[in-house]
Amino acid sequence: MGYEAKLRIWRGDDGSGELRDYTVEANEGEVVLDLIHRLQATQAPDLAVRWNCKAGKCGSCSAEINGRPRLLCMARLSAFRPEEVITVTPMRTFPVIRDLVTDVSYNYVKAREIPAFTPPPELEPGEYRMQQVDVQRAQEFRKCIECFLCQNVCHVIRDHEENKPAFAGPRFLMRIAELEMHPLDVADRRDAAQTQHGLGYCNITKCCTEVCPENIHITDNALIPMKERVADRRYDPVVWLGNKLFRR
Ligand code: SF4
Ligand code: F3S
Ligand code: FES
Repeated sequence: MGYEAKLRIWRGDDGSGELRDYTVEANEGEVVLDLIHRLQATQAPDLAVRWNCKAGKCGSCSAEINGRPRLLCMARLSAFRPEEVITVTPMRTFPVIRDLVTDVSYNYVKAREIPAFTPPPELEPGEYRMQQVDVQRAQEFRKCIECFLCQNVCHVIRDHEENKPAFAGPRFLMRIAELEMHPLDVADRRDAAQTQHGLGYCNITKCCTEVCPENIHITDNALIPMKERVADRRYDPVVWLGNKLFRR
């Protein structure tokens, strides 16, 4: 049964903006992105929103609904009371381009800083062999749709623009962990994780894990194991002695 939904949407650009109220027709089974599309079609043709699949798979429609990072296409209207005002704002951690669209290029910069998968030089493609358990471990991380909601919610950069150069964020620290756990990757990821990608900034608040639409256990399965591997390396007495003796 249809009803009139109340939307409050942030309108503006990188200079200034404001929250504007709209009333939009809503129907059973719809999601917040449906309301935004109807708003574009009927009242606000210039409203900017990024989306592609409307199926929770492209990671484009990330925004904040009532202050909580969400995919707009996965936010069912049935989770809100019909009289409730649904406030939609752009992701806060990234600069606004216009309305609900943010500039997420920070994430692509961080992605490029991580060296690619590095197999042993003597192995040709097609000769790679690994245990099923190792395949499965990486598969969880490969579910990532790069929505950047975890990057958006992490307090290390959400309120601290100055930390961005030194911190890769949970999505990319997870990528480093994935490669570090790969039995055929011969690159040493541990020192770089700490010194170049800012693993030490993460204090395990787990907000990233809470908002991940793919339910990836980012903190427990990637970040904490990576911290343990870094600690093993840095605080191993044999490694410590070796560093003292040979790295002077
Ligand atoms: Fe999105 Fe989850 Fe990937 Fe982060 S890890 S970018 S929240 S899918
Ligand atoms: Fe940030 Fe996730 Fe660590 S939210 S502090 S990267 S556990
Ligand atoms: Fe693709 Fe929402 S439109 S994830």
